[in-house]
Amino acid sequence: MMNTTMADIMQVINRYAPKGFSPKAGLILGSGLSSLADQITNPVSIPYQAIPGLQAGAVSGHASLLVLGYLNNIPIICLRGRLHLYEGVSYESIRILVRIVKRLGASAFIITGAAGSMRPEVGPGELMLIQDHINFHPGNPLVGANDETIGPRFVGMEDAYDPVLQELMETAANRLNIPMSKGVYISTLGPSFETPAEIRAFRQWGADAVGMSIVPEVIIARHAGLRVVCVAAITNLAAGLSEEKITHEGTLQFGEMGARKLVKLIPEFLKDMSNVLD
Ligand code: HPA
Repeated sequence: MMNTTMADIMQVINRYAPKGFSPKAGLILGSGLSSLADQITNPVSIPYQAIPGLQAGAVSGHASLLVLGYLNNIPIICLRGRLHLYEGVSYESIRILVRIVKRLGASAFIITGAAGSMRPEVGPGELMLIQDHINFHPGNPLVGANDETIGPRFVGMEDAYDPVLQELMETAANRLNIPMSKGVYISTLGPSFETPAEIRAFRQWGADAVGMSIVPEVIIARHAGLRVVCVAAITNLAAGLSEEKITHEGTLQFGEMGARKLVKLIPEFLKDMSNVLD
C-alpha cells in the first residue's frame, strides 16, 4: 500500500487546498457528531476517494470528506467521517489521514468520538474529556517499517493527551456551562459491542469509557508530533450497566445530543487554543 507516497498524496491535497491554507488544528468527528462540520465557513471538501492509497469507509452516519475551512475564524482541517478498523480498512488508511493533518501544518489534533460510559453517573448525552487510554485494539498502528521523517521508532505516550489543551478544553466548557466529566478511554475493535463481562473487566482495569476508535488516531498523531485533545460523546451506558440494549441507532440519536454541545465547545476551544499555540 505504501507505494503511494506522502508526496503523491499531498500533490492531490494541494490541488484542492486554497493557496497558502495552513490549518491550526485537525478535527475528527465521530458517529452522529458531524453537525459541527456544517459550521465550517469557506469550506473546501476533498472526497476520501480522491486521496491516493486511502480506502474510504461506508458506515451510515459517516460522510467521507476532508473539509478545509474555518471554525470561529480559525483555519482547520476536518476529517468528516472516520475510518474504523472494523470496516476492514487498514491502519495505512488511518495513517494517511492523520499525516495529512500534520503535513498541512497543523500543530494540534482535536479528536471526538462516540463512546459507552462505564460510570453510571455519566449518562447518554454527556461529554467526557479523555485523559488517557488503554489500547485494546489487536495491534498498533505504527507496526511496520518506521519513516524517520515523520516520527521516531519508539514513541512515549505519557502525555498523549496534552495537559495544556485539556486545561483549555475544561476552561472553555466551564465558560459555556457545559458539564464535562474526565476519564480513561479503552478501545475495542468492534463491530460487536462488548459483553457485560468484558465491561466488568474493563472497569477493573481503570477505564471509564469504551469505544471503537480514537486510540489508533492518537498513537499516529503523537508519533507525528501533533498535540492531541480528545472529547468523547457518551451515547449509552456500557453493556450490563443499564436495561437499555445498545444499538448503532441509539449511538446516532444520543450522539446528536453530544454534537449540540460540541458545536459550541469546539469553536470556543479553538479560539483559546490559537492564542496559546504559535
Ligand atoms: N461500546 C463501544 N463503542 C461504542 C459504544 C459502546 O458501548 N457506544 C458508542 N460507541
